[in-house]
Amino acid sequence: MQQRKITFIGAGNMAHAIITGLISAGYPANYITACSPTATNRDLLVKKYGINGKSDNSDASKHADVIILAVKPQIMETVCQPLKEQVNFANKLVLTIAAGIPVKRYQQYLAPNINLVRVMPNTPSLVGQGVSGLYAMDCVSEDDKTFATELMASVGKVFWLTNEATINDIIAVTGSAPAYFFLFMESMQQEAERLGFDSKTARELVLYTAQGSAALAASKSDLSFATLREQVTSKGGTTAKALEQFYQANLPQIVTNAMRAAIRRAEEMEKQF
Ligand SMILES: NC(=O)c1ccc[n+]([C@@H]2O[C@H](COP(=O)([O-])OP(=O)(O)OC[C@H]3O[C@@H](n4cnc5c(N)ncnc54)[C@H](OP(=O)(O)O)[C@@H]3O)[C@@H](O)[C@H]2O)c1
Repeated sequence: MQQRKITFIGAGNMAHAIITGLISAGYPANYITACSPTATNRDLLVKKYGINGKSDNSDASKHADVIILAVKPQIMETVCQPLKEQVNFANKLVLTIAAGIPVKRYQQYLAPNINLVRVMPNTPSLVGQGVSGLYAMDCVSEDDKTFATELMASVGKVFWLTNEATINDIIAVTGSAPAYFFLFMESMQQEAERLGFDSKTARELVLYTAQGSAALAASKSDLSFATLREQVTSKGGTTAKALEQFYQANLPQIVTNAMRAAIRRAEEMEKQF
């Protein structure tokens, strides 16, 4: 991986995940700076990985080749204001992981000709098994795109999106999706507990089944999820009876509705900015 000086604006969960991935991939700690107003999260990273910590975003960004905006969307404009005034973005690559802020806003917040990549990671990035959707402005060079790919590959799989609107779709498919699986697992655990399993055992039974199912699906990449489902389902058997309940409740339609609701919310959020 190319070695460029990276400054993270924000030292929270997502910055922590990506920095962990970079360090695990052998990225030099002295090339990484984390910036945040308070010291708690920042110092944790400084102590854990030996990276640089700063409280002045502009100062840390001036000397960076790559700036990663990892703050909440609500404060993005405020955070960008001093950067706009004090940092020359001409030869810098900027990545933003904030949901809901379109490229055109960053052109106003930072500079019209900014080299910007929007990144939509998900929380399994915290354990190096994330999925990130990336969208680059036309002006971003192949070299910068390669760097962005390598950066996000340190915390999981990377998928490039060819148009910006697809970022909202990827939020529904991957960004919000860990919560869909957790809801399913939570419901299964609750029923396992009602059946008499203690909480710890119920959690493990569900967790290992989910892990095993995902691993099986991953090992059979030539088989569709539908085929894998059919392979577990004998005619007239227990699984068939269980699945009948899901179909009667129209689970596929519920999933469609849920994903469409996530997309609508992402689109609404974009209008706020
Ligand atoms: N978590 C997810 O699942 C997820 C997934 C995809 C995208 N994202 C996006 O990732 C971004 C960060 O999310 P997160 O979960 O990492 O949030 P987080 O844990 O709340 O971290 C936010 C960080 O921003 C810092 N911050 C606040 N004001 C600042 C300022 N003026 N200058 C510099 N840093 C400032 C905070 O500093 P202190 O440490 O001093 O409080 C904190 O370190 C958000 O835009 C979110 O939409 C998150």
